[in-house]
Amino acid sequence: MLSPSDLRPSEHLYTKVQRAIPAIEWPVFAEDIDAIIALKRSRNAVILAHNYQTPEIFHCVADIVGDSLALAREAMKVDADVILLAGVHFMAETAKLLNPSKTVLIPDLGAGCSLADSITPEDIRLLRQTYPSVPIVTYVNTSAAVKAESDICCTSGNARAVVESLGVERVIMLPDEYLARNIAAETRVRVITWTGHCEVHERFSAAEVRQLRENHPGVVVLAHPECPPDVLAEADFAGSTAAMSCYVADRRPPRVVLLTECSMSDNVALQYPDLEFIRPCNLCPHMKKITLGNIRQALQTMQHEVTIDDSIAARARLAVERMLAVT
Ligand code: 13P
Ligand code: SF4
Repeated sequence: MLSPSDLRPSEHLYTKVQRAIPAIEWPVFAEDIDAIIALKRSRNAVILAHNYQTPEIFHCVADIVGDSLALAREAMKVDADVILLAGVHFMAETAKLLNPSKTVLIPDLGAGCSLADSITPEDIRLLRQTYPSVPIVTYVNTSAAVKAESDICCTSGNARAVVESLGVERVIMLPDEYLARNIAAETRVRVITWTGHCEVHERFSAAEVRQLRENHPGVVVLAHPECPPDVLAEADFAGSTAAMSCYVADRRPPRVVLLTECSMSDNVALQYPDLEFIRPCNLCPHMKKITLGNIRQALQTMQHEVTIDDSIAARARLAVERMLAVT
């Protein structure tokens, strides 16, 4: 027999997000959430959501959440017919590369990334001519066409392990200059960098961290490695979005700040009501293009489907699979 929560699954979900979403706004969210849950069933779809998605997506409709590395690994295991990627375009492409028989949807094709936009396949071909024997390590925040020109990919969660796995003295690491410099500071491998930046993380400054410590005594500062090196030098810990979540889960710092995208703190703070989160906020305009409304629309219309040209898919997949074999 059906119970009321089978008909309105959103009813029990409000408790997860009530500290982030005012009760008066909930009915608008609930309508979309119920429709999305029904559409997931009828389309045999799963939603993979990045840690930067807003709480109503992250906590109420996502089936799998995580950082870029976890989403890549989980995409490979998906059995359902459809993967909807609540994140940005390179994440949807990575899912398609790793599970090519599935229909991969992204609710807004304009959900890009300043890092992915900072480099082209032609740039990589020129780099190869300049440094013919130096392996090219490419951050997953790139197009499939750029991955196809690379030797191996990495994420913020495994960059050092990937660089060191190659057993060489020198690598080219691109396109994120700051991630590359931050990894160079941790390893003996020499790193040639590119000039791409994340438009969210480049805005954090060392002065801001010092000010945070002055205003909030005892605060534990966690920073994403896409931040400039002087920010990491002032931080207590640097790691991927998943590593930051784990730090909070394991160490339970009573007062903490996550120097990364805003929704990350919102999502983690909902899980730890006893901890105080200080929230200087830099929004990613690309991640914020994904909403409950366009997730619902994507599942209704089965758009926008992410496809990858056969001429690049096999080479791009190889670069991602080499990375997954390292960690
Ligand atoms: P993570 O892999 O750490 O989740 O980072 C992805 C990203 O786009 C950070 O800006
Ligand atoms: Fe790209 Fe930065 Fe947005 Fe991540 S936060 S998707 S790196 S622009």
